[in-house]
Amino acid sequence: MELLDARIERILRAGAHAPSVHNTQPWQVTVRGNRITVRADPARQLRHSDPHGREMLISCGAFLFNVRMAARRESLTPVLTVLPDREDRLLVATIELLPGLEPDIDELELAVAIARRATTRSPFDDQPLDADVLQAMQVAAHDEGALLRLVQPSEPVRAKVMSLVRRAEALAAEDATARDEEKAWTAVPSDRRDGIPQDLLGPWTFDDQAPVRRFLASAGNARFEQRSTMAVLVTAGDTPRDWVAAGQALERLLLVATTYFVRASFATTVLENPTTRHDLRQALSLDAPPQMLMRLGYGTTPPRTRRRSVDDAISTDT
Ligand SMILES: Cc1cc2nc3c(=O)[nH]c(=O)nc-3n(C[C@H](O)[C@H](O)[C@H](O)COP(=O)(O)O)c2cc1C
Repeated sequence: MELLDARIERILRAGAHAPSVHNTQPWQVTVRGNRITVRADPARQLRHSDPHGREMLISCGAFLFNVRMAARRESLTPVLTVLPDREDRLLVATIELLPGLEPDIDELELAVAIARRATTRSPFDDQPLDADVLQAMQVAAHDEGALLRLVQPSEPVRAKVMSLVRRAEALAAEDATARDEEKAWTAVPSDRRDGIPQDLLGPWTFDDQAPVRRFLASAGNARFEQRSTMAVLVTAGDTPRDWVAAGQALERLLLVATTYFVRASFATTVLENPTTRHDLRQALSLDAPPQMLMRLGYGTTPPRTRRRSVDDAISTDT
């Protein structure tokens, strides 16, 4: 029992390495024996820019994927039930950890990549990504029931995507409530264990060639790479179940990217505004809703964004 407890602690610590919108870490976990219950924490939801909790559930989905891989690393089989209760939309999943076989090499690689993955907001090398890496990321998304639509440097639609990103950023900058919400989670004191500290916000683009989020406290302008590959993660529908799936797909493809030393950053303001989200979907002729927009490339190792302690996110039921 004690051994399992130590394993569960390692598994939950890996879960918490997941990316989350503004590093809100919007999950709350209960452990009873070999059963983990993951709830979304509405106190950590961006109620204004994410009123339906879409990004909150994407973040929780990423947490779930890490838990799955970390459990496999411990030779446990995680049995997930996603959104088990129609009446309780905050109950994201229950996970039962059963004795399992040793992890295979792919599972082990992804589990090891969890601690190495980090959002890289600085400019990448100006070098397109290798086709085999992109294909592996697309397979990763597909394995979680999602689709990764690449936008290559040569595609004309890239300019339209950039103009929508710019429009969404300008609209958010005019929105006082959005600004206040962002301030609560960004440029946070360096001893805070959630939110994003100023030195990790990265610069804004000098010439609008790369999709990056314009944080209020962004560190000046920089010339970004001209030829990063952009990618849009797409799910079949737009329900809470799709959002959790998007989060699992996101973390899976980011971990695969990490194994190839490929880094990512995101520009999701364009998806937080319903109009620009709709326009982005049309521009890319997507027949399903876009959930994440990212840029991918080779770059420097970013510093880690802090996480809450395991105890802070967990209550143990005995
Ligand atoms: C749903 C979602 C939306 C995000 N949107 C952005 C974004 O627009 N800009 C950005 O720089 N990072 C974005 N991120 C990345 C988070 O800020 C990042 O995961 C968090 O700060 C933790 O840092 P890490 O990824 O380095 O561990 C997003 C992450 C998620 C899951």
